[in-house]
Amino acid sequence: MSAPRLAVILAAGKGTRMRSARPKVLHPVAGRPMLGWVLDAARAAGCTHLVVVVGHGAEAVREAFPDEDVTFVVQEEQKGTGHALQVTREAVQEILAGEGAAEGRILVLSGDVPLVSPATLDALASAADGRGGSLAVATLDEPGALGRVLDDDRGHLERIVEARDASPEELAVCRINAGLYALPAPAIFEHLAELGTDNAQGELYLTDAVGAAARSEGGVAVVELEDPAEAWGVNDRADLAKVHRRALRRQAARWMAEGVTLLDPEHTVIEAGVELARDTVLHPGVSLLGATRIGEGCELHQGTWVKDSRLEDRVVLHPYSVLDGAHLETGAQAGPFARLRPGARLGEGARIGNFVEVKNARLGPGAKAGHLAYLGDAAVGAEANIGAGVVTCNYDGQTKHRTEIGEGAFVGSDTMLVAPVTVGAGAST
Ligand code: UD1
Ligand code: CA
Repeated sequence: MSAPRLAVILAAGKGTRMRSARPKVLHPVAGRPMLGWVLDAARAAGCTHLVVVVGHGAEAVREAFPDEDVTFVVQEEQKGTGHALQVTREAVQEILAGEGAAEGRILVLSGDVPLVSPATLDALASAADGRGGSLAVATLDEPGALGRVLDDDRGHLERIVEARDASPEELAVCRINAGLYALPAPAIFEHLAELGTDNAQGELYLTDAVGAAARSEGGVAVVELEDPAEAWGVNDRADLAKVHRRALRRQAARWMAEGVTLLDPEHTVIEAGVELARDTVLHPGVSLLGATRIGEGCELHQGTWVKDSRLEDRVVLHPYSVLDGAHLETGAQAGPFARLRPGARLGEGARIGNFVEVKNARLGPGAKAGHLAYLGDAAVGAEANIGAGVVTCNYDGQTKHRTEIGEGAFVGSDTMLVAPVTVGAGAST
C-alpha cells in the first residue's frame, strides 16, 4: 500500500502558551525545528508534495524551510484548525490536478506534533482506504488538554471533543486525538464548509469535520499509536522539554543500532544533524551538536561538547573539551580541558593538552602543544613542539596578524610570539 503523495501541515497557530517571540513550530527539538521533524516524517512516508499552513511568524517559518518540495499557504487570521485546512483547498486541488487526479487522499498533520513516525503515516494512509478518512489516537495516563476521542454505542468513532468543551465524564476518557489524519479530498472540504464556531474557543475545529466524516457513509478509521509519545503535542515549554528528551532518546537508540557505543545514553546529546561511524565510544555527558561528523573508532570522554566539527577516524577527546567549527584529522587528540574554536585544525596525530586554546590555526601532523597555550591565526609545522605558556599575540589592538612556525621547531615555555612573526623550521626559542 503506497502512502499518499500529499501532506498538509498546520503550523499557523500563535502558540500563546509558549510565551515566545519565536513561532512555536521553529522551536528546536534535538537540534531541528519542530516542523522539520514533521516534514521529514512525511517525506520518509513518500509524500512528494508538502503544503504548510503558515500565519503567525509566517516569514520566519518560510525562511527556515527554503526546500523546493514545500508550498506555503498563508492563513491570515488564525480561526482554528478547521479553517487552517480550509485555506489549503485551492493549493490541494492544484496539486491533485497536477498529478492528473480529481480526488485523492491527503495526510493532515500538526506542526506541533513532531514525534510522528513515517510508519504511522503509512498506517493512517492504509486505514483510510475506502473510508471517510482515518485518525491517530493514543491512550495517555495524563490526557491533559488534548481532544478526547469518543465512540458511539457500536464502538465506532462518533466525535472528538476538545478538553475545554468536554463534560467531566468526557474528560475522564484517556483516548486522545493525536492531531494526525488521512482525509479524502475534496470530500473533507465539504465538511469543513459546514463548520460553526459554537464552542469554548470560538474557533472552526477540524475535529468537528472529522466527526462529521465519521458519522457519514464509510466512517473514519481509528489508528491506535503503538508508541503514545508520537501523540505528544507541544503547547508549552514543559511539553517541549518532554518531546526534546524523547527525541534525544530516539537519536541515541538509532546510533547504538548503527554500532556506536553510548556508555550513558540518557546523558548523551546527539542532535538530528550529526553523523557518526561505528566503534566510536561516547562517555557520559557528551554533547554532539549541529553538523558534526565523527569517524570510526573515536573516543569522546566525559563532558566533551562538540559543535559543527569534523573528527576523522581514531580521534580522542579527553574530558571536558569544547570544540566549535574544528577539524581533527586521523588520530589527533585534544584535552582534557582543551578549547578549539572556528578554524582550528589538528593534523594527523597532532595533540593539544590541557588549557590549550586554538583558533583559526592549523597544527601540522604530529605537532604538539601540551599545556597552557594560545594559538590563534597561526600555522604550526609538522612535529613542532609548543611549550607551556606559549602565546601567539595575534592582535595589536587594531588588526590580527599571523604567526608561522616551521616544521620541527621547538618553541620554549612562556614564549610570547608577537605577530606577525615567523619561527623557521627546526629553530628553537
Ligand atoms: C488540536 C486538536 C485536538 C488534538 C491536538 C493534538 C483541534 C480543534 N484540536 O488541539 O483535538 O488533541 O491538536 O495535538 O483541532 N493551527 C493553525 N491555524 C489555526 C489554529 C491552529 O495552523 O488557526 C495549527 C497550530 O499551529 C498547530 C496545530 O494547528 O500546529 C494544532 O493547533 P493547536 O491550537 O495547538 O490545537 P490543540 O489545542 O493542541
Ligand atoms: Ca497543539
